[in-house]
Amino acid sequence: MTPPMGFNNWNATGCDVDEKLIRDMADIFVSSGLKEAGYQYVNVDDCWADAERDPATGRLRNHPTKFPSGIKALGDYIHSKGLKFGIYTSAGTQTCAKTMPGGLDHEEIDAQTFADWGVDYLKYDNCNNQNRPFLERYTKMRDALKKTGRPIVFSICEWGQNKPWEWGKGVGQLWRTTGDINDTYTKMIEILKLNAPLASYGGPGHWNDPDMLEVGNGGMTNTEYRSHFNLWAVMAAPLLIGSDLRKVSKADFDILLNSDVIAVNQDKLGAQGTVLKNANGHWVFVKPLANGDKAVTFFNEGEVNATISTTAQEIGLPRSIGYTVRDLWQHKDLQSAGTLTASLPPHGSAMFRIKASQDWFRHEPSIDAAI
Ligand code: GLA
Repeated sequence: MTPPMGFNNWNATGCDVDEKLIRDMADIFVSSGLKEAGYQYVNVDDCWADAERDPATGRLRNHPTKFPSGIKALGDYIHSKGLKFGIYTSAGTQTCAKTMPGGLDHEEIDAQTFADWGVDYLKYDNCNNQNRPFLERYTKMRDALKKTGRPIVFSICEWGQNKPWEWGKGVGQLWRTTGDINDTYTKMIEILKLNAPLASYGGPGHWNDPDMLEVGNGGMTNTEYRSHFNLWAVMAAPLLIGSDLRKVSKADFDILLNSDVIAVNQDKLGAQGTVLKNANGHWVFVKPLANGDKAVTFFNEGEVNATISTTAQEIGLPRSIGYTVRDLWQHKDLQSAGTLTASLPPHGSAMFRIKASQDWFRHEPSIDAAI
């Protein structure tokens, strides 16, 4: 009911994946505090299977050299760390990398194989689909997963081609809204602009997915990665780390571990933040939270310093004698009479959590009485 949090190897390693990498990520989830921060799913992307199904049973098999211990053993290892295990295939005859068979017309046997291996999450891609109707392909796998009786998060990966935000609720728990991200500021912005207008389609258990995080992969600055994380958090996006955690800097780790920002992303209300205004790339997002607070993200998309502001009234908070503004990067509470302003460097962002002072509510009944 909150956006999935975890890891997927694709952005960092592509097809170059093996069981050691995935086990190492599970270990680092525990040792680095990521698990404690809420990251749960450890997911393998494309290229984990043998090129052919088992001729005797028709089942998918582990790639013999990349995953020699078998997929069930990998799932068991991940579970032994108190984490969950995710896997990947495509609603086509082969996966996108074309190194392994896809699930088309093998939905039931593949879903059962995944369930038997202890899979908790399936990313279901769109390559090599033979132009078969998308709804049929995705609902068949949904039904097959359900039939196994094992709860498995179903991630629809059809790149926003057939407006999955219009049919994805009730089919999967998340759906990609765009093509693939890459580790550049330009691509991150392109995806932001496609995903942000879809806020009304997201909610608890049915999320817009603007693709996995690039934080830590090295192609953006720490400032840009912080913005990437703030924006994905305020949009209630799944937070799937896409970097090889063995190589991530301390500064980038601190982004992924920001518990105040994670709490906004994981808020129980499950609302996707909306764009309150965007004048010349000076963005203001607002995300309502379950306890009545509002989360606000300021983002300076442009190439020069910018001052960005909003007010309590503008973001929809009740009138109050004052507001508590928590800066989610300074981790400090500040007091405000109702305006919020930040000076941001190029590509920089800030995130706040704002609460109307409780005093107002204490006084309100007598004011009503006076009226
Ligand atoms: C597609 C998906 C990616 C990744 C690759 C794997 O491009 O959108 O996220 O899973 O396939 O081949």
